Amino acid sequence: MSGPDAETPSAIQICRIMRPDDANVAGNVHGGTILKMIEEAGVIISTRHCNSQNGERCVAVLARVERTDFLSPMCIGEVAHVSAEITYTSKHSVEVQVNVMSENILTGTKKLTNKATLWYVPLSLKNVDKVLEVPPVVYSRQEQEEEGRRRYEAQKLERMQTKWRNGDITQPILNPEPNTVSYSQSSLIHLVGPSDCTLHGFVHGGVTMKLMDEVAGIVAARHCKTNIVTASVDAINFHDKIRKARDRGREEAL
Ligand code: COA
Repeated sequence: MSGPDAETPSAIQICRIMRPDDANVAGNVHGGTILKMIEEAGVIISTRHCNSQNGERCVAVLARVERTDFLSPMCIGEVAHVSAEITYTSKHSVEVQVNVMSENILTGTKKLTNKATLWYVPLSLKNVDKVLEVPPVVYSRQEQEEEGRRRYEAQKLERMQTKWRNGDITQPILNPEPNTVSYSQSSLIHLVGPSDCTLHGFVHGGVTMKLMDEVAGIVAARHCKTNIVTASVDAINFHDKIRKARDRGREEAL
């Protein structure tokens, strides 16, 4: 997939060195850390694009991430290069393509670790329930718009078809037998703080994905009883916002 024009402001690149607290005991950077960096790049470029005209100010929220594969490991000490570009705009959504490369700064070797596609929706800063219109992106080739529209229509169809699956929750069983689903079933509790949240006071999609990756990793490690890594993540839809604890308390008090 190639975006409208890499020279336009619809492309950004950020880089960060990987530290021990980004990684597991074997030194592999967590899938969740990479997903969080991907989402950070996505929210910057989509929010910037959605505010590029003199309309109502907004923040773009993550609505969906397409399936992504973790193609090669990233290790402590390597530099993550995260590049993002807008590849399609519908009336109310922005498609962002994010590529992640790992660079060994001692040898100069670079490897592609991820390619991810994310969809953002702009919400008014004054009214978080108001979805705003997206300024259309300028394509350098007409086929890019047609290919983008096909991806947009395909994900809309997939969302309608999978809606019924979203209520599935497995209930925990007490004293489960080893190697059963219940045996490795796990949960995490996280108190949402200001650094987890957007300007609207909602938890960043990247923070949510990091938590999802952490708990999934615990389940996989409990089952396999060894070190594990994230190999791929299926498509994720963000149906509702997670609010900061203080905001929720204030709302309940009203
Ligand atoms: N994936 C991709 N696009 C989506 C989507 C999804 N899961 N859900 C909605 N959209 C798009 C629609 O296609 C539509 O664009 P279009 O008119 O160009 O087709 C646009 O969003 C608005 O759809 P609408 O049905 O009016 O909005 P909604 O009531 O479904 O709200 C969200 C959409 C994303 C605002 C809402 O689901 C939400 O708040 N989700 C949580 C977001 C969040 O907290 N993310 C993490 C924090 S950044």
